[in-house]
Amino acid sequence: MTILVTGAAGFIGSNFVLDWFSQSKEDVISLDLLTYAGNLENLSSLNGNPHHHFVQGNISDRDLVLNLLKKYQVRAIVNFAAESHVDRSIHESKDFIETNIVGTYNLLESARCYWNDLDKNLKQDFRFLHISSDEVYGSLDLTDPPSNESDPYKPNSSYSASKAASDHLVRAWFQTYKLPVFTVNSANNYGPYQFPEKLIPLCILNALHGKPLPIYGNGQQIRDWLYVKDHSAAIREILKQGQIGETYNVGGRNEKTNLAVAETLCNILDELKPKSNGKSYREQITFVKDRPGHDRRYAIDASKLEHELNWSPQETFETGLRKTVLWYLENVAWMDHVVTGEYQDWIQKQYP
Ligand code: NAD
Ligand code: TYD
Repeated sequence: MTILVTGAAGFIGSNFVLDWFSQSKEDVISLDLLTYAGNLENLSSLNGNPHHHFVQGNISDRDLVLNLLKKYQVRAIVNFAAESHVDRSIHESKDFIETNIVGTYNLLESARCYWNDLDKNLKQDFRFLHISSDEVYGSLDLTDPPSNESDPYKPNSSYSASKAASDHLVRAWFQTYKLPVFTVNSANNYGPYQFPEKLIPLCILNALHGKPLPIYGNGQQIRDWLYVKDHSAAIREILKQGQIGETYNVGGRNEKTNLAVAETLCNILDELKPKSNGKSYREQITFVKDRPGHDRRYAIDASKLEHELNWSPQETFETGLRKTVLWYLENVAWMDHVVTGEYQDWIQKQYP
């Protein structure tokens, strides 16, 4: 049997696939459109592995997906494929609607068509796991409790609205057709292979190049940070023993202001890669124009997953961030390959 992982050349998808092979002998089909965020280099350690099959394609391509599901007798789909960057969704949201909403709809329909025709045992074992975000719950005040699975959806950006819409479709396919789904709403992830448009890898890259570490507004917005390997472990556990039709929140119990994230990062870099002039990287922290509609705080209550499936994050923010910084320091070539023409165009547009 095989699992189909969509968005597998992106940040979380590639970490998940690499982790999967360290735990399982089951085959993986990695399906990815290879947008600007998809990078086959993330999966290069699997080159020549007969249990891994990479296919370039769109989750909206129903013929392609249905053929893959049938050909490889897929027993689970893990859907990471998405447009994932809030700042890009502010400039232009078309691709977010196309992939996150219409793409999820098409993937659900391909899965339903395949699942309907499976014989009884295979039908019983099939799972569709959809990856979503804590951003669908909207912005919390400082005194609000962390978001739990029964909180109402209040998305504020076109990214989070498109993720919320996809979650509703997934729910509807369970309620209406009994397709065996899970939805996983995760906090901000960090770790190896993250594209340097997101806060942590952007700050590492800029710090090393002597450029400003751009902090939006006053830097007091709060995110809950989850080490990407802890996310992979949660997904494996949900696939194994999750309750069909349920939503699971995954968070790291690491609420930090953006300024605190940048400062901790600078402290680690000061220790691991001290500047030749003896100064701290903190001097590069620069406050820049705020993001429009910038959500003040996200926080995740992951107690359902902790109590029901016995999952808990293994990394604290400090241990996870140290591992992350070390990975970027040891993988300078990866970063050099990623920051090509398209990336430079984005940086010019976003940080004029
Ligand atoms: P990413 O942008 O790094 O990767 C997305 C991948 O999807 C890319 O490889 C891209 O090529 C691929 N893709 C895009 N459109 C596609 C399409 N139509 N068909 C097939 N492939 C397509 O994103 P990520 O950070 O790895 O996020 C993965 C998932 O996790 C997303 O659904 C995102 O919403 C969700 N999520 C991310 C975070 C985070 O902190 N990064 C937090 C919570 C939830
Ligand atoms: P990001 O990594 O884009 O994730 P998300 O918007 O999905 O949470 O941003 C994390 C936080 O960091 C968010 O509050 C915006 C802020 N941020 C900056 O302050 N400066 C930056 O250059 C970027 C990219 C993000």
